[in-house]
Amino acid sequence: MTSQLFSPFTIKNKTAKNRIGVAPMTRMSAAGDSIPREDVLAFLKTRAENGAGMVYTEAIVTDYESAQGYPGQARILNQVQVDAWKNVTDAIQSHGAMSICQVFHCGRMAYEGINPANRVIAPSPVAPMQENPMTGMAYPVPEPMSRFDMDHVLNGFVETAKGVVAAGFDGLELHCAHGYLLSQFLSSYSNRRTDTYGGSMENRYRFIHDVIQAVKPVIPEDCLLLVRISNWGIADMDVSLFSDASEWQTMVQLFSREPIDAISVSTYDFSAPAFDMGRNMAQITRDVTDLPLLICGKIHDRKTAEEALKDADFVLSGKSMLLNPDWVADIEADRELPLYKSDEAGVAYTTTPLP
Ligand SMILES: Cc1cc2nc3c(=O)[nH]c(=O)nc-3n(C[C@H](O)[C@H](O)[C@H](O)COP(=O)(O)O)c2cc1C
Repeated sequence: MTSQLFSPFTIKNKTAKNRIGVAPMTRMSAAGDSIPREDVLAFLKTRAENGAGMVYTEAIVTDYESAQGYPGQARILNQVQVDAWKNVTDAIQSHGAMSICQVFHCGRMAYEGINPANRVIAPSPVAPMQENPMTGMAYPVPEPMSRFDMDHVLNGFVETAKGVVAAGFDGLELHCAHGYLLSQFLSSYSNRRTDTYGGSMENRYRFIHDVIQAVKPVIPEDCLLLVRISNWGIADMDVSLFSDASEWQTMVQLFSREPIDAISVSTYDFSAPAFDMGRNMAQITRDVTDLPLLICGKIHDRKTAEEALKDADFVLSGKSMLLNPDWVADIEADRELPLYKSDEAGVAYTTTPLP
């Protein structure tokens, strides 16, 4: 059976051999040098070797001040870190896959002591409602970002983008999803600012516009710029970050005016009706943008991958890629495959070798 899934996917001058990729997955394995463990880097290479058309890194922290949210996260801010990632991009590309580096600032999802400068900053002094599972304690109330903080954060994105380019990645993705800093600006649930960065959707979007304006000049034409968006956050998972489909679509339209190459939509379940509209998240996104769309969330077998691709251009998997090294071949052979549960992914954070 011929399938779009196994047809090449081209964005600008970059082509992936198929439309199946490894979603970004944080592994918390780095030591003091902010370089992931060798087996964690090897995982990315073997998934490319085993047929993935695109391979994302874990979320890479953009500075040494306030961006980190979890222990053992990676950076790409010095030559040693760049060299470690160059080795990974070379291997991924040698297998005909695209390598994408996701970069992030965690904002209010940080906790005391996790960052070298011990700062927790966010658009507004509003902490998540739930406890931090890493500490078993309340999240600290973040310091609202000053202009100085905003410029410092912008600089972190720029310096990290330089590292991404030096390491030879095919693309850079701004993590604007899951309730981390850029997502915190977008959502009125975490952004209560009364200056030009808060209030209307246009204002809440402004900081991301600034980030794109800042990083774009250091990204050459042949390096893609992507964004990841979601309506859910890691903390307070039941909160809808956007009030309705119209607000979501306004945001997508704002992104679509930018010099970006694709939008990655992250969901719990790609097929779930979004905002009770009876249509899924990819559909309501596609209504208002011509940009290529990547979709993720419970895509675990051939049937779900085919179904998801009807409304998007590329599918990403987290847990299936993590736990099944042969997932792409299994999809191709249309084997019966499990839908992994979240707690099964816990192995990602241990030293137990992945299959
Ligand atoms: C271990 C693990 C780490 C993750 N880390 C990230 C991350 O760094 N950045 C991100 O955007 N999403 C992250 N996610 C979310 C996945 O990219 C994906 O959106 C999610 O697992 C849902 O897809 P799935 O149903 O195919 O697993 C992570 C997921 C897992 C399981």
